Amino acid sequence: MTVSSSLATLHLQHLTSLEHAYQQALDAHGYTGVLLYSGHARVHFGDDQTASFSTYGHFLHWVPLPGSEHCWLLIRPGQRPLLRWYAPSDFWHLPPELPDEPWRDRFDIEPATETSPPQLPKGRFAVLGDVDGETAAKLGAELNPEALTVALDELRVRKTPYEVACLRKANARAFAGHLAAREAFDAGAAELDIQLAYLAASRQRESAVPYQNIIGVNRHAGVLHYQHYDLHPVQWHYSLLVDAGHRYRGYCADITRTWAGREASELFEQLIEGVTRLQRRLIDSLAPGHSYLALHERMHRELGELLAGHGIVRCSADAAVAQGITRAFCPHGLGHLLGLQVHDVAGRRLADGSSLPAPADHPALRLTRELEAGMVLTIEPGCYVIPMLLAPLRDAEAGRDIVWETVESLAPHGGIRIEDNVVITPDGHDNLTPKS
Ligand code: GLY
Ligand code: MN
Ligand code: MN
Repeated sequence: MTVSSSLATLHLQHLTSLEHAYQQALDAHGYTGVLLYSGHARVHFGDDQTASFSTYGHFLHWVPLPGSEHCWLLIRPGQRPLLRWYAPSDFWHLPPELPDEPWRDRFDIEPATETSPPQLPKGRFAVLGDVDGETAAKLGAELNPEALTVALDELRVRKTPYEVACLRKANARAFAGHLAAREAFDAGAAELDIQLAYLAASRQRESAVPYQNIIGVNRHAGVLHYQHYDLHPVQWHYSLLVDAGHRYRGYCADITRTWAGREASELFEQLIEGVTRLQRRLIDSLAPGHSYLALHERMHRELGELLAGHGIVRCSADAAVAQGITRAFCPHGLGHLLGLQVHDVAGRRLADGSSLPAPADHPALRLTRELEAGMVLTIEPGCYVIPMLLAPLRDAEAGRDIVWETVESLAPHGGIRIEDNVVITPDGHDNLTPKS
């Protein structure tokens, strides 16, 4: 067995609750069953190479098989789930093998050397996933019906103890990577070498990470989703921002740390401390019933206080928020739901399918719901010098409240983000990210 017996037991309990929940959802929407497709990697146009691939979340919700392709899972209330497991005879590749774990006994497993779906019995079926219309028509199944998809998305919002255990493990592994990344930076490594140190310490190949690791040195720390890895070390070490995770049995960690370099200004170090404290205050207040939007707005107020307290703006915190100054320093949302996808499903939609859109002045906010026990989410305040967002303020009324020389002194440091992953518990919360 490749998994601890306690996690294997939690997984079986997770399957039991999933069986009940799927039964209710399928009954409520009038389906005999649903066929979940794992998906498969896309071949580049005019080429024989494939893009990197993520297995479909609803498929992974049942089975811990990230990376599996061309597999099908048939769920029918009252019957054992059927896993059609694609394992072709192949001498070019190592054929995939199912892990020897107790969950297998709960499934009928049909090994397949063809990519085709299983035959569907009589009844009303839905097929969910990246399936073409012709395949769905041949199956006689409805393709990705919205109401059922919404209902199944909702089942992923509150995590079971098994899922929380997986997310905790993913966090522990990611955190080992963050410590190694910091060490590499302190030793003068280039972005690429920091990335390699991260991957080695967190024990994962680059194609398996839940999202492309963000390794930003100096000004690159101010690019929210910076996507390159410089090959050469920098001469001056102002800052390092690492936003990187790990995937454990499909479940994603999403952690960010920012470190001051040897040449960092005292103000930048103080701001890292300030954003870290702000983040901890927000986490300390997490509990069921809180509005995440209100927490996001609180983040902006406290960021305004931080900017005012360090002489970066000369107006009050409220005025910095009202004039859009804090949005220029932090244009992203406070965080998002986390699970089988790094930006997990249903963050802006309620159980009844009605939408809860982000407010017009905070369009990037990915979670607008009230907090409930079982939700796992990120808390990731930031403070950046982003020239494209600050430039329009220079000639505006608000620009008079910004101390531009101080902003210029911070610019070589790029920015700061501190991000942890937290589960909401019935009476509060539990931070899944190890303490730094
Ligand atoms: N790593 C992407 C995010 O923090 O949302
Ligand atoms: Mn995040
Ligand atoms: Mn992140």
